[in-house]
Amino acid sequence: MKRWFIAWCHKMINNNLWYKNAVFYEISVRAFKDSDGDGRGDLRGLTEKLDYLQALGVDCIWIMPIYPSPLRDDGYDIADYYSVDPAYGSLDQLKVLIEAAHQRNIRIIMDLVLNHTSDANPWFQAARSDKNSPYRDYYVWSDTDQIYKDARIIFVDTERSNWTWDEQAGQYFWHRFYSTQPDLNFDNPRVQEEMLNVARFWLDLGIDGFRADAVPYLFEREGTNCENLPETHVYLKKLRSIMDEHYPGRILLCEANQWPEDVRPYFGDGDEFHMGFHFPIMPRIYMALKKGRFEDMEEIMRRTPPIPENCQWCTFLRNHDELTLEMVTEEERQWMWKEYAPEPNMKLNLGIRRRLAPLLDNDRRKIELANSLLFTLPGTPIIYYGDEIGMGDNLNLFDRNGVRTPMQWDDSTNGGFTSGTPFTEMVQGEYSCQKVNVAEQMKSPNSLLRTIQKMIALRKQYAAFGGSDMEWIETGNPAVSVYLRRHDDDVIIVFNNLSNAIQTVQIPAQYQMTGRDLFSNQSFSLEQQLELQPYSYYWFHK
Ligand code: BGC
Repeated sequence: MKRWFIAWCHKMINNNLWYKNAVFYEISVRAFKDSDGDGRGDLRGLTEKLDYLQALGVDCIWIMPIYPSPLRDDGYDIADYYSVDPAYGSLDQLKVLIEAAHQRNIRIIMDLVLNHTSDANPWFQAARSDKNSPYRDYYVWSDTDQIYKDARIIFVDTERSNWTWDEQAGQYFWHRFYSTQPDLNFDNPRVQEEMLNVARFWLDLGIDGFRADAVPYLFEREGTNCENLPETHVYLKKLRSIMDEHYPGRILLCEANQWPEDVRPYFGDGDEFHMGFHFPIMPRIYMALKKGRFEDMEEIMRRTPPIPENCQWCTFLRNHDELTLEMVTEEERQWMWKEYAPEPNMKLNLGIRRRLAPLLDNDRRKIELANSLLFTLPGTPIIYYGDEIGMGDNLNLFDRNGVRTPMQWDDSTNGGFTSGTPFTEMVQGEYSCQKVNVAEQMKSPNSLLRTIQKMIALRKQYAAFGGSDMEWIETGNPAVSVYLRRHDDDVIIVFNNLSNAIQTVQIPAQYQMTGRDLFSNQSFSLEQQLELQPYSYYWFHK
């Protein structure tokens, strides 16, 4: 075989694995940048800000739902799967955005909400009003609410049951989330085909893949908890095979808020999801920072099974939802609430509705340290918009809206987000746009934004960070997590002092070596002992 052909094949394969060593960034389009003064962010606004994301070093943007929706669940309640809500723009504007992003080597994925629709969706309207409508069987109906009793309720603060009586239909319908979000019936082959068509529609438009929302719940079976059922995997593999065949290089990111061993099947044999969120590591990063000990992080990483070579975890510190505490024990949850949600209105469902900076007391050292963990643990990191500048939240807003406030671009009125009246109150006080904004932090070489930018650049420069293995190094100090990441001969040892005190670690003989500190780029020797300042970190490169 010709050498150029082999090289080309390699390039293509590596290209198709782009997500393994990438940095992702999650955006609420409504809250990012308004281009037309109506107070709501839109696709044009986001397009205007691509240069910022490129400068930050982002490789892939995940946009939250932009479909027409009554917004009972901020767009995760979809009224029409085949168009863009005019508030955000049009299909053509989405194409322009994708093209402009691609010119900057940035990919765009979007939410694909398979499990449920909005009750305003014409499918549901037809289903509820006519028993003989072909759409009736798009949803899950029952004359009794006494089946599937083993399925837990997810939105515990709002919902009492997964069944809601529908007067018009004269039956109960099934929903795993709000009662305004009826679940689709995946036992119906027409539903299965419809949702494959939805995926094809957006892929044909040029989208680079999907964050597949709430996938554990697609099917219901009596006597089970109705999560992670085998039928679900069969369906998802079908979706994947279509993508492999017709859209190579596009990705599927799995949202399954489950233990690592239960997420593992979603990777299949490398033939289901390309990526999956690692939910349980997230709260353990906060636990580590509060306790000043890394044991919980180590325990969950050791419990994380290996995944196929073409797959990757996705790690995060915060996202658009509450900081979920589903993947901890009851005792740990109570402890997390006590430590991180001292006010009752900070709690939501089984989580905490606060942003990164307020959770970490707006303490620059802790915020950097949490990011140091995010960027060096196995998995592709995903940044939640605004966390790179340390934005705050607004606890007066309902539900999770308090962590979805407008991006703060500068210190002008409304933070440069809109020339009109913002769709929601801007954050005030310690985290107001006068105190926390992009423009200011871009100017200052020592800002949080500049540090995150540097972390991103380093993370992407070293393939060692893109793999899935890690080696914990025993140093006799429970307050400092020390682990090694490797790619061929490239070795990086990461030190994170999780405590508020100076700590010393003993370096085992085989790791005593000379190299460089990646941040200062100064040569650096690991000798018998290393001393670390409170909440400090080193990324040592051999
Ligand atoms: C999304 C939530 C949404 C839920 C129902 C999730 O997992 O992240 O924001 O409320 O799915 O669609």
